[in-house]
Amino acid sequence: SKAGYDHFMLKEIYEQPSGVKETLIRRLNSDGEIQLDDIKMTKEDLDKINRVYIVACGTAYHAGLVGKFAIEKFAHIPVITDIASEFRYRDPFIDDKTLLILVSQSGETADTLASLRYAKEKGARILSVTNVVGSSIARESDDVFYTWAGPEISVASTKAYTTQLVSFYMIALDFAIRKGTISREYYNEMIEKLKDMPELVSKALEQETHIKEDVAKELKNATSAFYLGRGLDYNLAMEGALKIKEISYIHAEAFAAGELKHGTIALIEEGTPVIAIATQEELFEKMVSNMQEVKARGAYVIAVAQEHNKEVEKAADKVIYIPNVDDILSSILTVLPLQLLSYYVAVQRGCDVDKPRNLAKSVTVE
Ligand code: M6R
Repeated sequence: SKAGYDHFMLKEIYEQPSGVKETLIRRLNSDGEIQLDDIKMTKEDLDKINRVYIVACGTAYHAGLVGKFAIEKFAHIPVITDIASEFRYRDPFIDDKTLLILVSQSGETADTLASLRYAKEKGARILSVTNVVGSSIARESDDVFYTWAGPEISVASTKAYTTQLVSFYMIALDFAIRKGTISREYYNEMIEKLKDMPELVSKALEQETHIKEDVAKELKNATSAFYLGRGLDYNLAMEGALKIKEISYIHAEAFAAGELKHGTIALIEEGTPVIAIATQEELFEKMVSNMQEVKARGAYVIAVAQEHNKEVEKAADKVIYIPNVDDILSSILTVLPLQLLSYYVAVQRGCDVDKPRNLAKSVTVE
């Protein structure tokens, strides 16, 4: 049941504080350390791995792009994130030193499952991040990390994504402490910060009224919208663009903001909506100049930024704030306003939010 919400999507958006919390606390032991009971990789297995592929489709692929940042930053292993329907046909280099991480809410996506079988045959170790216990992908993997999001009914994936992000942060921190690439102190500090996330997720969702009443109307009649970001925010831009395309049918594209001058900026004209994601402290100034560049060419700029960065207002027409957060963990919060924005734009356009046209919840054909 929708528990009083108008749509499953909105209900599932609001289940994120608990999904994030469950995914996290089920793996913290009494000493507050990460214990991945369902991942049997020994220190020896881990030391052998010299390359990681993260393979998935759609929103799960976008979570895998963030996973790459976390694993490379914490565990110092090179990672390639790939789309399952591309990976399996491009003859990737796989051997017994390769770890393949599959991400799939349903655990049944045809291309993701085929990628698993393909890599297994070539000797890779297989770890999956999935939400469905006993699913095909879970059954055929060497190790499984379950997201505890609870059943996701809406075709548009929301709580599966945020719990996949938490999974990647935990896997990356666990690999890192075991490999000795981060200090015990930093590890403990990151776990403390992860423990704050459920509350920060709730706080970020308090932007709902602002998004519904002040921001969604700016996109409602748009035919096209652009999502810009740098670093991790570029991956969030991709997820934001997918979400609005699939449920509101507005054409949307994500761009790495630094690529604007290499062609993209030609698309900006008077009134073009640009969603500028500027949550990365380290890249903030650069994002603000990109926002000024598009604004000077007539764009209507909707920014997403950390609460303390009020300076963003000089380059934006509307701002949605998220709570202050570390650059590396921001993804868990940044996606929330993007989900709410897509939801309200779709509702205001009269779209069938939970069952968008032409789509199925689980894609079991290639
Ligand atoms: O079940 P999976 O996570 O393997 O599904 C992958 C994609 O089909 C899925 O994330 C899809 O992109 C969603 N509809 C996006 O909201």
